[in-house]
Amino acid sequence: MIRLWIDALHFTELFLSSFVHLVYGFYIFSSAVAGDLSQAFHRRFLFPSPKVENKQDFATTTIPNLHTLPPIVLVHGIFGFGQGRLGGLSYFAGAEKKDDRVLVPDLGSLTSVHDRARELFYYLKGGRVDYGEEHSKAYGHSQFGRVYELGHYPEWDEDHPIHFVGHSAGAQVVRLLQQMLADKAFKGHENTTENWVISITSLSGVFNGTTRTYLDGMQPEDGRSMKPISLLQLCRLGVIIYDWIDIPWLKAYYNFGFDHFNMSRKKMGIWGLLDCLKGNSGPFASGDWILPDLTIQGSIRLNSDLQTFPDTYYFNYVTKCTRKILGVTVPSSIFRIHPLFFIRVLQMSQWRHPSDVAPPYKGYRDEDWQDNDGALNTISMTHPRFPVEHPNRHVVDESDCKPLEPGIWYYKVIEGDHIMFIVNRERAGVQFDLIYDAIFERCRKHVFRKNPPTLPNQPHP
Ligand SMILES: *[C@@H]1O[C@H](CO)[C@@H](O)[C@H](O)[C@H]1NC(C)=O
Ligand SMILES: *[C@@H]1O[C@H](CO)[C@@H](O)[C@H](O)[C@H]1NC(C)=O
Ligand SMILES: *[C@@H]1O[C@H](CO)[C@@H](O)[C@H](O)[C@H]1NC(C)=O
Repeated sequence: MIRLWIDALHFTELFLSSFVHLVYGFYIFSSAVAGDLSQAFHRRFLFPSPKVENKQDFATTTIPNLHTLPPIVLVHGIFGFGQGRLGGLSYFAGAEKKDDRVLVPDLGSLTSVHDRARELFYYLKGGRVDYGEEHSKAYGHSQFGRVYELGHYPEWDEDHPIHFVGHSAGAQVVRLLQQMLADKAFKGHENTTENWVISITSLSGVFNGTTRTYLDGMQPEDGRSMKPISLLQLCRLGVIIYDWIDIPWLKAYYNFGFDHFNMSRKKMGIWGLLDCLKGNSGPFASGDWILPDLTIQGSIRLNSDLQTFPDTYYFNYVTKCTRKILGVTVPSSIFRIHPLFFIRVLQMSQWRHPSDVAPPYKGYRDEDWQDNDGALNTISMTHPRFPVEHPNRHVVDESDCKPLEPGIWYYKVIEGDHIMFIVNRERAGVQFDLIYDAIFERCRKHVFRKNPPTLPNQPHP
């Protein structure tokens, strides 16, 4: 009888969370379409001037110093998208407009940290994406991906380094990319070094995995396989079918990033689809997608190869929307937490690792992982901790840590849920500007290796 009740509760929860996620996805998608249509209408009927589109190019050609500025690259997280996807919608809620030289690459919304890091390199440097021979054989996808005819920063090298800002999984993508640069892992670019990256800032970065992956359907036993009935299974079916149907305009609008798995109906036919659905092929079968990388075990696997480099500047914003009342961790507010996250905040604050399953690492304690932002545990966002703790410093007031020292993970804890600083700018209010202004100002004024850069609005010294 009790068993039945638990099953019923489980299904109700699954139904509710699928429903909430679907509605939210649909809401984002339809607001993107609506935004696009209204923009097209404006351009067509109200301001039919072709110059509007070229504003950016115009600016870059008239200010000669602009190209000497290293770009700040904003890297999206799970379900994210870059400039050009979802019409005019901005994952970073328009923060990219705060500086003259910001890039927002599109790296696939569900692809693995590895595949995103490879993609990001070629997006910047230019060329055909090479996922690596060994990796692509092991995970059953093509070795080569799309071609970036012109890189977005072809002059990128040690003397022209880049600032990276990563949200959520984007932070791990940047760390892995930096490690690949240090390891000289790109064929034909043998002189890469870790110093091609000057700074890494993370917003709610997932350095040590999250217990939410288990709530959504990853198995706590291995952090790699999925529970048979779960939100992630529904997501898996949806993605396979979306990629298989392969409607070009829809995929141009939003892409999960699995093109290198050849899941289109034109390439694998109906038998291929059945094979994928049965779990014999594709990213979900080989585990080359983002969720396994976000489990605690997956993060330990990734982290065991990732270093903190002595000449790179690191700064993390850690989000948290829980607090302790009489020793019990609970959501800190009902109204300030996004409805998409509220149930998860509550569940994560009550998370217990199953007692019949080995803990993900020695010394694991449930109470360390209870504070969270609805998607990630606060412990995971401060700095890389597992399997070994990296140098770090807690920051209360940002003016206390100038000048920043390289090689140390500074972190600041702020009240907010996981999507407080993305997609919708109004939710964070004045905090939104405070955070992004501080990030961009740090990149432009306080973080440099040799001489301070010349800002476009300052006279040349
Ligand atoms: C995917 O298709 C391309 C050609 O369209 C082919 O070159 C590649 O080898 C295929 N990859 C896999 C993993 O089947
Ligand atoms: C680094 O590689 C690039 C392109 O592969 C080359 O143009 C450049 O001269 C190399 N620099 C050094 C110091 O080897
Ligand atoms: C988090 O990851 C870092 C490595 O990036 C590691 O040193 C640290 O021990 C990890 N912490 C936890 C709690 O897993």
